Amino acid sequence: MEAIADECRLPSDAFAAAWDAIKVDYAVRDRLLAQAVLSLQLRMRFSFEVMPVHGLIVLEGPPGTGKTTLARGLADRVARALKPRGATFLQVDPHAMASSSLGKSQREVTRLFQQVIPERAANSPCIVLLDEVETLAADRQRLSLEANPIDVHRATDAALAGIDLLARKARNVLLLATTNFRTAVDRALLSRADWIEEIGPPGEEARRVIILDSLQTLASRWPGVTQLCDHAADFARASAGLDGRRLRKAIISAAAASLETAQDPNKLRAEHVMQVLATVTAAQVEGTAR
Ligand SMILES: Nc1ncnc2c1ncn2[C@@H]1O[C@H](COP(=O)(O)OP(=O)(O)OP(=O)(O)O)[C@@H](O)[C@H]1O
Ligand SMILES: [Mg+2]
Repeated sequence: MEAIADECRLPSDAFAAAWDAIKVDYAVRDRLLAQAVLSLQLRMRFSFEVMPVHGLIVLEGPPGTGKTTLARGLADRVARALKPRGATFLQVDPHAMASSSLGKSQREVTRLFQQVIPERAANSPCIVLLDEVETLAADRQRLSLEANPIDVHRATDAALAGIDLLARKARNVLLLATTNFRTAVDRALLSRADWIEEIGPPGEEARRVIILDSLQTLASRWPGVTQLCDHAADFARASAGLDGRRLRKAIISAAAASLETAQDPNKLRAEHVMQVLATVTAAQVEGTAR
């Protein structure tokens, strides 16, 4: 089905790397993992009537803060906790279900929740990533009358009905949803969440760790980069406000300071990194002011 962007068995080493790549508070990671494992445990043992847990966790926050990657890593951790059984992983691409033809996306959403997910969950726990869930369950109160509102309205209704159905009938499904805009997501969906975690841009210490991680990756191929690690704290101070994605890209872009450094990143110097960070953070401030 086209709405499934990715499907595989977990645990998997590639997914484990995703969990390690995202630097967020240990407290946040521990809570997410504990909440996810608890949700599945309770749901597999009790009926919805006595244990009204939906098995839905939402990660909310600005672009580039690692939500999608963290959710994939979390899925892997949960699957490891379920060993030896493991779990099936599905990633839903809600954009693939959006449609201009009236009724189509509603049908697709209904099929996803009533058929596709329950089939995968028939013999094994199933962890489903609903990425950018505001596309799947747009806030019905905010929909403008011009942009095909009836279709979107119906798709949101279908998603909510589907989640309710899974909550009762497919007790070994865990839904992980991500969104940039809490206000764009239908309130009824948020109220079904067992836990909503806000993921913010990295603080100074997290930025230092991300910078070190990026530099060490470059240094594994060009050992001259290692000496830049001594400047990680300065780089962290100079990168306030950057999200994790832009920060990693900025460090990589520093190697494009000149053709010489691009051809041989061993020649990368702290000034190159500071220059790029100054440019990128200035652009970021300008972007927010606009
Ligand atoms: N806290 C972080 N620590 C380390 N790397 C990070 C962090 N946040 C983002 N990144 C880097 O940015 C990349 C993109 O992250 P990801 O796509 O998961 O973000 P997102 O929050 O889902 O963004 P969007 O809202 O635009 O979909 C990650 O693969 C990682 O390399
Ligand atoms: Mg994302």
